[in-house]
Amino acid sequence: MDEKNCYILGIESSCDDTAAAVINNGRILSNVVATQEIHKQYGGVVPELASRAHQQNIVPVVHQALHRANIDKNQLSAIAFTRGPGLMGSLLVGTSFSKSLALGLGIPLIDVDHLQGHILAHFIKAEGQTPPNFPFLALTISGGHTQIVKVTDYFEMEVIGQTIDDAVGEAFDKSAKILGLPYPGGPLVDKYAQKGNPRAFKFPKPKVSPLDFSFSGLKTSVLYFVEKEMDKNPDFISENIEDICASIQFTIVEYLMDKLKNAVKKTGIKEIAIGGGVSANSGIRTALLSAEKKYGWKVHIPKFEFCTDNAAMIAIVGELKYKNQNFAKNTVMASARMKF
Ligand code: KG4
Ligand code: ZN
Repeated sequence: MDEKNCYILGIESSCDDTAAAVINNGRILSNVVATQEIHKQYGGVVPELASRAHQQNIVPVVHQALHRANIDKNQLSAIAFTRGPGLMGSLLVGTSFSKSLALGLGIPLIDVDHLQGHILAHFIKAEGQTPPNFPFLALTISGGHTQIVKVTDYFEMEVIGQTIDDAVGEAFDKSAKILGLPYPGGPLVDKYAQKGNPRAFKFPKPKVSPLDFSFSGLKTSVLYFVEKEMDKNPDFISENIEDICASIQFTIVEYLMDKLKNAVKKTGIKEIAIGGGVSANSGIRTALLSAEKKYGWKVHIPKFEFCTDNAAMIAIVGELKYKNQNFAKNTVMASARMKF
């Protein structure tokens, strides 16, 4: 394969971001994301609105990605797209578009697992980013997913722990909603937390098996706690927002770190790669960096644009599969509950 002239277009549409990116020999030439603002007013992603917005966005987003990469569609070697997991209506837009484009251009189609994308984003060649060595543990933390994966090779992955209910991003967002913060509240909780006392209030950490997670109880305990305090003082939230956020964040970060420590103990693997939107959280970053010093871990945190949902991560998986001529048939279908 002529890697120099291999251009792969990646397309991502699994949730509420319509994204397209072009990769050439491991380097991202363009990475375009259209975030759907419409969901803000509903306090969460509305699937029906998401698929309609994907329909509107996909052509201009792909056009932009090709334009910024400074290439013509006829130079593309293959189209890689997110097949799942995600919202069915959203996935169908990217899948149908990709199938048609690949067919029209007469080039191969490559199906990509969104979660493998989050993990393999670490292999994008970018400044300040060093790829992890196999085997490593990948912690994917986002608004839709929370899992620990043992990665022994590019496509040899085993999920060794995951959430049994809400994702960690949901725990941030739902707690934020209780505090009256706008959606998605995760970044705001992080912002207030940085000025608060993490030990001001105590929230329980749910007990599940050592490598699994549960977050649905946290929002309930935040709700009961806040309601109780508001009965005594109606201004409780506004007067204590920094301490409340710091305490919630502290609980979540400590819980994630407990699970990672269990995974390191069980597997003996000390190389950790994180991904997903919650990787932006300052608390988890600080905790991971101190674990490097304290426990001798090697931690990889990708550039932020490769953490949140994006198509660059789909393009890198596409490129890795292209090298193995691992193509999809044109009859391939979107899969909302896809598992690797
Ligand atoms: O990966 P992502 O962009 O989309 C998916 O859910 O797949 O992740 C979005 C999630 C949201 O729940 C958002 O609140 C959370 O990531 N998030 C954060 C921070 N930045 C984004 N949560 C806590 N602290 C942050 N700094
Ligand atoms: Zn994601």
